[in-house]
Amino acid sequence: MKLAFIGAGNMGGALARAACRSLDPQEVGLTDYDAAKAEALAKELGCLTLPDNASAVREADYVLLAVKPQVMPAVLAGIRPVLEDSVEKGEKKVLVTIAAGLPIASYRDALGDALAGLPLLRLMPNTPAAVGQGMTLLCADGASEEEIAGLQAMLARSGAFSRVPENLVDAAGCVTGCAPAFTCLFVEGLADGAVAAGVPRAQALEFAARTVLGTAALLLETNQHPGQLKDAVCSPGGTTIAGVQALEDRGFRAASMQAVLAAMERTRAMREGK
Ligand SMILES: NC(=O)c1ccc[n+]([C@@H]2O[C@H](COP(=O)([O-])OP(=O)(O)OC[C@H]3O[C@@H](n4cnc5c(N)ncnc54)[C@H](OP(=O)(O)O)[C@@H]3O)[C@@H](O)[C@H]2O)c1
Repeated sequence: MKLAFIGAGNMGGALARAACRSLDPQEVGLTDYDAAKAEALAKELGCLTLPDNASAVREADYVLLAVKPQVMPAVLAGIRPVLEDSVEKGEKKVLVTIAAGLPIASYRDALGDALAGLPLLRLMPNTPAAVGQGMTLLCADGASEEEIAGLQAMLARSGAFSRVPENLVDAAGCVTGCAPAFTCLFVEGLADGAVAAGVPRAQALEFAARTVLGTAALLLETNQHPGQLKDAVCSPGGTTIAGVQALEDRGFRAASMQAVLAAMERTRAMREGK
């Protein structure tokens, strides 16, 4: 088996779905505290279920931990002997985690010296991964380029990946992880504006969401600065510049910056246990 998921919840499920589109689903395994959840998803994806976390470690080359951070210490304590056993036998394993807020050092501490050489990949996916449009941050520790590329290939259908040094994960995650919510507020506001102007609700939402999606694609594909794309649609004395002025009057860009910085401040406070 190539890839096993420990935890088949929201994000584990989204990544398992992506993996089953790149790999033969028979090379993907799922295990979850809630066996019925893993079974239902495995049935839908045509992949395998595993009876427990130890089997996931025994069977798979890559083991992806998709449990909540607070249960991670117990999960690591449970799989540690099996990992030690397999490393002793010379089997190649790569441990992957998607838990938010847990640094690589915390895994190293929990796994101990015998597993110091175990390749570890820390991912920070975001919710658009569920529809193949994710932006996943990746930090590697002790993993070869081949092992990293192997994981990215398995999860390629979840969206884009970017390697970041671990000291930037929290800051970058305040955009990738939090901005889906910020963007939803923007889309909702645009749609409300369209409704106020007389557009039916369902169409207003679709128009707003597709415009955000298309503009993001335009930015990425043309590699232009947002200011250039904005200028290109603002004719002198026209409608768009009137809307831009309304946004600027209300501090839209400053509010967007503050949203990311507020998320970062909260991240720091949470790290200090506040
Ligand atoms: N959701 C996101 O947008 C997002 C983004 C980035 C990173 N993440 C990270 O992804 C991880 C999973 O988040 P999620 O939203 O997918 O949570 P979730 O939906 O609660 O999924 C976690 C799953 O793990 C299962 N589980 C709990 N303890 C277990 C154990 N000891 N062994 C095996 N399975 C166990 C849970 O089962 P029960 O329900 O029965 O407890 C649940 O099905 C978290 O660490 C989170 O920080 C999430």
